[in-house]
Amino acid sequence: MKLEERTVAEYHGRPVKFFDLENGRRLRARLMNYGATLISLHIPDRTGRLEDITLGFDNFEDYLGNNPYFGATVGRYANRIGGARFVLGGQEYVLARNEGPNHLHGGLKGFDKVMWEAVPVSDSRSVGVRFNYLSPDGDEGYPGNLDCQVTYLLNENDELHLAYLATTDRPTHVNLSHHSYFNLAGSRKENILEHELQIMASRFTPADERLIPTGEIKEVAGTPLDFLKPRPIGQRLKELPAGYDHNFILDSRGELALAARVVEPESGRVMELYTTEPGLQFYSGNFLDGTIRGKGGRPCGRHSAFCLEPQHFPDSPNKPQFPSTVLKPGEIYKSLTVIKFLTV
Ligand code: BGC
Repeated sequence: MKLEERTVAEYHGRPVKFFDLENGRRLRARLMNYGATLISLHIPDRTGRLEDITLGFDNFEDYLGNNPYFGATVGRYANRIGGARFVLGGQEYVLARNEGPNHLHGGLKGFDKVMWEAVPVSDSRSVGVRFNYLSPDGDEGYPGNLDCQVTYLLNENDELHLAYLATTDRPTHVNLSHHSYFNLAGSRKENILEHELQIMASRFTPADERLIPTGEIKEVAGTPLDFLKPRPIGQRLKELPAGYDHNFILDSRGELALAARVVEPESGRVMELYTTEPGLQFYSGNFLDGTIRGKGGRPCGRHSAFCLEPQHFPDSPNKPQFPSTVLKPGEIYKSLTVIKFLTV
């Protein structure tokens, strides 16, 4: 187990820190207090070759530019809120509009763009960092002071744990998630189309052309969204000209359960994602178009990585039929995601 901390820059008078973790079995993760971000994750392939399997940047300054939420913590509300508004307790709240008329990933300055307090944490089996952020009442239009905590822990079972806690002093909406872009082939492959994906979801929430759910619930059976049995991401991609960017309704809800499994056949790298959340957004990197140059100056092209974002459903504040995202004073928002890495 190893944890090293260093200051790499200053942002609004505060030190920007990189935290390098190692789990004693060669897995390495780099975290940063800006955006409570996962910068890189090195895992071995079946021959033991270590490679970084996430998209991101080498330097802090690049995270301030054109950055599609690489590795970030997203909040207060991951995904979209239609019309950037909701009514809570009889009062209308108008949120920041940062995607046409809608609100995406917490607004103009979401949790991915703020400095979090960071404290290294470790025990005999894991090493990590606990991040805290107090989002003030009115932040991006949301009511209530929201006290948030995100803890990343890398353990000796080759698991990355992401644990979320939040409390509020006024009723509000909360939906926190993690936004890493994965390519399990490392630098070997330019796209993720041959990755085999399985998602434990029989249903999904259909959405309009701006990706706001219509409110319906449909079966994945007979559609390109059927990943109940593992199959290559690219297999039916042509049937979806805009690519995958869908919220899947996970079959098992409430308790920590396997939500998705991804196998990269050439390297043998496997990732299993377990979550307590009811939904999973699968995004196949459709908007990446090569203009962003990531680590090592490499352009990030279309489908060069995928995101699996455990969360509540998009636009829940305006969809009473969806599981609620309301948090009230005295309640504790809790969410846990575990990503386990192995090889075959
Ligand atoms: C969304 C995509 C969006 C991406 C980056 C994903 O969570 O589903 O539509 O383009 O984040 O903003």
